[in-house]
Amino acid sequence: MLVSSKDDFEARVQESYDRMSELIAFDDTKAGAKGIVDAGITEVPRMFVQPTKIEVSVSSCETKLIFPVIDLEGIDKDPIKHKEIVDKVRDASEKWGFFQVINHGIPLSVLEEMLQGTQRFFEQEIEIKKQYYTRDNTKKVAHVSNFDLYSPSVPATNWRDSLFCLMAPNPSPEELPAACREILMEFSNHVMKLGKSVLELLSEGLGLNPSHLNDMDCSEGLRVLGHYYPACPQPELTMGTGKHSDNDFITVLLQDHIGGLQVLHKNQWVDVPPTHGALVVNIGDLMQLISNDKYLSVEHRVLSNKVGPRISVASFFYTGSLPTSKLYGPIKELLSEDNPPKYRATTVKDYADYFRYKGLDGTSALLHYKIQP
Ligand code: OGA
Ligand code: NI
Repeated sequence: MLVSSKDDFEARVQESYDRMSELIAFDDTKAGAKGIVDAGITEVPRMFVQPTKIEVSVSSCETKLIFPVIDLEGIDKDPIKHKEIVDKVRDASEKWGFFQVINHGIPLSVLEEMLQGTQRFFEQEIEIKKQYYTRDNTKKVAHVSNFDLYSPSVPATNWRDSLFCLMAPNPSPEELPAACREILMEFSNHVMKLGKSVLELLSEGLGLNPSHLNDMDCSEGLRVLGHYYPACPQPELTMGTGKHSDNDFITVLLQDHIGGLQVLHKNQWVDVPPTHGALVVNIGDLMQLISNDKYLSVEHRVLSNKVGPRISVASFFYTGSLPTSKLYGPIKELLSEDNPPKYRATTVKDYADYFRYKGLDGTSALLHYKIQP
């Protein structure tokens, strides 16, 4: 029977009502997914359970897919090396939207301390941590579990807590949590330099002047997101981070040794291998938009794990929801009769707000900005 009965309807209303009250009760604890684990649960609560079975991952070994690794050694010294690196960055950005960098110039000690500082924040005294818990995205520092907790199209909550820190423009060091303040500042300085170099390589890869993307202010904003993925008793039922693409220009990601990050490549989930000392770089939606689809903002996700916590630090190059008026559309120099603009222009804030409203529901926010042929 195709018609649902009044009882079915009432049952569905009750179900969504129950879900909403569970979400609110969870949010009110201000203790995140970690709080659930600390309370000693052995089963994942219903609000975290994915509605459909999580497909088993295909490992990169079985499929002979090799995740791109780019060695940045000699980038400024040797013009031949430089050209090779530009070609590799372009190729990876067009085909994968992701690559790993080694010899990137950030000391290993800074990376290790950043992971430790993030863990310290989440594992500190709950009363202190709670003071940072907020859904107000105008705050420079916000600790929150699932920024999209209440988005209507997001069917299941993720097994993850996060700390958002605005590090550029105009950071407020005194507002940063004491548990990670100093390392956050040192790490951000390094990441900003690396991000600017990557944007130079990406500019060259588009056939533009090396300073083009930095001159467009793609490195004006930097938001550093520390993620905490607690050990999960039933990882087959819930995701660490659901399938999504990033809403920025580029992301520089630091992950610990646990693994779980996967990229959708040729319709298969490919593991991004945790490599000691390496950083992952990926293209965000706004870069795909301004490059008119030359560089791809590829979907990725994080599986939850029985082992934990897993710590990662994602540095987002964009100004997020800060009020801005500058419009970003496909770069004029790249357009021609054969390559007309594929997207309408948007401000970074408008894009960030739409992305936030939609949440990580498995569809791309870019579709909303696509010009229909
Ligand atoms: C993100 C993200 C991956 C990770 O923050 O957008 O994809 O490994 N993070 O935490
Ligand atoms: Ni992401």
